[in-house]
Amino acid sequence: MDGKRRKTISVTSGKGGVGKSSIVSNMAYLLDTMNEITYIVDADLALGNIDIMFGIVPKYNIKDFIEGRKDLSEIITRGPNGIKIIPATTGAYELANLSEMEKNVLLGGIRSIPHYDFIIIDTQAGLSSNVIYFNSISEEMFLIVTPDPASLADSYAVIKVLSKKTGRKNFNVIINMVRDEAEAIEIYKKLLSVTDKFLRVYLEFYGYIPLDKNVALATKRQRLWTQDYPDSVATWALREICVKLLRN
Ligand SMILES: Nc1ncnc2c1ncn2[C@@H]1O[C@H](COP(=O)(O)OP(=O)(O)O)[C@@H](O)[C@H]1O
Ligand SMILES: [Mg+2]
Repeated sequence: MDGKRRKTISVTSGKGGVGKSSIVSNMAYLLDTMNEITYIVDADLALGNIDIMFGIVPKYNIKDFIEGRKDLSEIITRGPNGIKIIPATTGAYELANLSEMEKNVLLGGIRSIPHYDFIIIDTQAGLSSNVIYFNSISEEMFLIVTPDPASLADSYAVIKVLSKKTGRKNFNVIINMVRDEAEAIEIYKKLLSVTDKFLRVYLEFYGYIPLDKNVALATKRQRLWTQDYPDSVATWALREICVKLLRN
């Protein structure tokens, strides 16, 4: 296997706590089980917690690479199966706003990864220059939205700024923590009603993930819910999202 797709995707949200890191980690796991070579870049450089999701303690992290102490291959950490993780570090506040040079170093590193199908970038919430940057270097932008009114309002702001700053108009929307598909569509339509009025963007309803107690249970144990609960509703929903990604 050599890496046939070579696609970089970013996962972003308006506010924190909507499930980005959880979705990124579990998406990587499912894609890996589908024989896709998958990397995660923990690009939440101040509050990164992909390592916590996987219950691993990386020896080195992205800071060691950006600051030139380690090669990329030295900081890449193995998750379950074949997943490869470029870990961040909680509390690297000085990386919360990367300089142009630091961005170039990081981009060079990401571009030097030889064989992959997917590189999934878990960004921080909100609208920092890092978030705009990581979205601009990815081929597909995913936005995670929840029924929380604050999430909806902040999502609109993120779409507005990202479309303006990256010049891109297509956003893949995943609605998380809903009762059912009907609620997901309702939230999607709410978002659409404001973007259609004020912005020239195209929002694709990519899928939804139900609020699922098994997600919380696995997360508490620092385990992946897709691994521990393969038949849970959230797992099936995320599997459908991955299948869609593979079809495109
Ligand atoms: N579909 C879901 N059902 C139940 N709990 C969820 C779901 N998605 C995420 N969570 C929980 O929400 C919390 C925040 O998720 P996280 O991935 O850390 O958010 P973010 O990265 O956007 O800040 C975690 O405790 C996670 O287990
Ligand atoms: Mg996170």
